[in-house]
Amino acid sequence: MNPISVGLLGLGTVGTGVVKIIENHQDKLMHQVGCPVKIKKILVQDPAKARTLDIDKTMLTTNPDDIILDPEIDVVIEVMGGIDDTKGILIEAMKGKKHVVTANKDLMALHGSELLTVAYENQCDLFYEASVAGGIPILRSLVDGLSSDRIIKMMGIVNGTTNYILTKMSKEGRAYEDVLKDAQDLGFAEADPTSDVEGLDAARKMAILATLGFSMKVDLDDVKVSGISAVTDDDLRYGKQLGYTMKLIGFAHREGEKVEVSVAPTLLSDSHPLASVQNEYNAVYVYGEAVGETMFYGPGAGSLPTATAVVSDLVGVIKNLRLGVNGRSAVTPQYPKQLKDDCEKFSKYFLRLHVQDEVGVFAEITSIFASFGVSFEKILQLPVKKNETAEIVLVTHRASVTSYKQILTELENLKAVKKIKSSYRVEGNSL
Ligand code: NAP
Ligand code: HSE
Repeated sequence: MNPISVGLLGLGTVGTGVVKIIENHQDKLMHQVGCPVKIKKILVQDPAKARTLDIDKTMLTTNPDDIILDPEIDVVIEVMGGIDDTKGILIEAMKGKKHVVTANKDLMALHGSELLTVAYENQCDLFYEASVAGGIPILRSLVDGLSSDRIIKMMGIVNGTTNYILTKMSKEGRAYEDVLKDAQDLGFAEADPTSDVEGLDAARKMAILATLGFSMKVDLDDVKVSGISAVTDDDLRYGKQLGYTMKLIGFAHREGEKVEVSVAPTLLSDSHPLASVQNEYNAVYVYGEAVGETMFYGPGAGSLPTATAVVSDLVGVIKNLRLGVNGRSAVTPQYPKQLKDDCEKFSKYFLRLHVQDEVGVFAEITSIFASFGVSFEKILQLPVKKNETAEIVLVTHRASVTSYKQILTELENLKAVKKIKSSYRVEGNSL
């Protein structure tokens, strides 16, 4: 049988892994798809750059047209990153009837719907498993494995850099900046790690997950985002004392027809299945109406893990080619987008306050919470050495976002409250 020819856009961390897997697993691939799989051309920025792979330099090009206009190339694998130019290249490739596999979460979170429409119109496959949680086959699990169920809730540790930082700060007492540098050296962090630590990378992945899981077009702007850069050692320590582990959690919840999607540092009960996910590992907890609790765990980044997802997508494309069914996946979400209002979003909260250490202050604070019908689940009060200050740490019972915001405003206006030091969402055992 004629080989399938692949054009590779990018030969960096992921691209190198893709070349290795296609070479090293050729027998397995042949068995799966019934023909050899060959990389014909590779787009790079700098053909003269030293590579860790022994690659035939004549395969390298700096001109995308050498790939997207080559009639012998059947599939384009995009692992170069970038948004606008990359989008243009992929659209041209699909208009030229080339199937596309991409690992690009930035592109799919922003323009996924448009690209999927172009794919559908041109009867092309556009697969993007590697864009969320690297080596974990979570998108396929949502779309295929759980296709008969109604997904109610997804919680994800979908950014390896922040999970690594929080794990090392919490377990080894290391400083934030120091551990962030480690994550950069180890290659998990983005070139500019702001998108990792401020939650944007996780938000992009949650927009993709929510769109597929809820069959509703959830845009990046619909995801409420906060990152971990303000999390302190004290927050981790008090959290631990109260039985919680801090994680950057992507949270997607459906109630009735409405959904909420957010990314925020969250204190998880130590018994929650996600609390034990350490270092750079990722995991996605999915609660389905029929299946109940499931959890998908594995490496969320790295050369070979991410390339595994990319090459598995390639296998899917080639199997579809054999059956003549490429580009048949429905692109229209089943439900119109309906987002919850703040008064419909509920959570428990951790709150750390510095207050004047004097009689009656705690009663004042309690009365504010009581006026909104919010009670406490856990309380710690400790003296602070200077200025007659006491530190109060509270965990509330469930409150709406609307009530909680009003409570914070009233606390800020209370003379006895010197500073609201921190506040985090709290998640219990599971649904
Ligand atoms: P990378 O190591 O920076 O590699 C990028 C590659 O693309 C390089 O080979 C570079 O060429 C080439 N390239 C970049 N811009 C180009 C341009 N304008 N024209 C031609 N070639 C260009 O990136 P990566 O870590 O492999 O990530 C690739 C994609 O996978 C990104 O979308 C990323 O978000 C996604 N992803 C990465 C991971 C991961 O663990 N790294 C995990 C999941 C998803 P040179 O080699 O000549 O510089
Ligand atoms: N910077 C990302 C992370 C890479 O830390 O998870 C994988 O998308």
